[in-house]
Amino acid sequence: MTTTSLTTTKARAAAPAKIILFGEHFVVYGNPAILASINRRITVTAKRSKDGKVTLRSDIASGEFDGSTFRLIEGTNARATLEPLYYAARQTLSERKEKLGLEIEIKSDIPYGVGLGSSAAALVATVAAVDSLIGKVDRKKICESAVEAEKIIHKNSSGADCFVSTFGGMIYYSKGDGFKKVESKTKLFLVIGDTGIKHNTGDLVSSVRKLKEANQMAFSGLMSQSRDICNQALAALNSGNTDHLGMLMNENQLLLERLGVSHEKADDLIDVARRAGALGAKITGAGGGGAIIALAASKEDSEIIASAIKTIGQGAFEAEIDTKGLVVG
Ligand code: MEV
Repeated sequence: MTTTSLTTTKARAAAPAKIILFGEHFVVYGNPAILASINRRITVTAKRSKDGKVTLRSDIASGEFDGSTFRLIEGTNARATLEPLYYAARQTLSERKEKLGLEIEIKSDIPYGVGLGSSAAALVATVAAVDSLIGKVDRKKICESAVEAEKIIHKNSSGADCFVSTFGGMIYYSKGDGFKKVESKTKLFLVIGDTGIKHNTGDLVSSVRKLKEANQMAFSGLMSQSRDICNQALAALNSGNTDHLGMLMNENQLLLERLGVSHEKADDLIDVARRAGALGAKITGAGGGGAIIALAASKEDSEIIASAIKTIGQGAFEAEIDTKGLVVG
């Protein structure tokens, strides 16, 4: 919890990207998932302004909201990109019974639209920056407001992305029971591969819903397999059995393929990562392109895997687990 003075005119908050190690999509229907925040961040600076308008500027979109009127400053699809952030900022002000104008600046080093939680991190950091302009920041409340605003992006959000971005570290999360921190007995060497194919989380979550509705029995079988994988993964993390963890990632990928959310480019990256020595690899997040994660046995192996992915012309980086989560100030 951080305290700021009531006279603050400028505040800053930063929130991390995330990976889903196990359980994406199934988490929307109440199953557990294991997630971790990673060392890539979005930093939001909020300033009070006198004109009552809310201006948002980021690398991908900039615009100004004046009530329900939007003025484009820059970017394609800017209104749709900025609207959830504007909503989050407005809600935060209204909970504080404030009617400020705001200038919000968003700086990101998270690849966006590929399942690494850039939307959730932007929401968490925006709510926290605006809230800390006015008073004490309560992480639980910040997270709840960010989850609420995320529902504009996809209405059936499980809330998992906002939770891990707010609280940081590795978490075992379910919609009903919230989260508990996961201790990994050994350091995890993780590589992220980026297909470069942007996805729409809402569309992918809807496609899974349709599949579920068309075939309840088969879906409930997949749910139970996913739950089992998550629980085995938790035990493997606690005991430091990375070989088993990698195998479980491969099993999880098979379930995601059954859901139809993988993509041939993601399959290629997974294949390259496994051939380069990954203990396991899978898509992370909603899928449909996006990013993949691979688990390596050592730092040397993770370097080999990242360069193998780069050799086929795709982006890759080694990721560290972030333990701080949301940072205000
Ligand atoms: C998106 O990062 C993860 C999904 O499980 C959706 C959600 O949890 O809201 C696909």
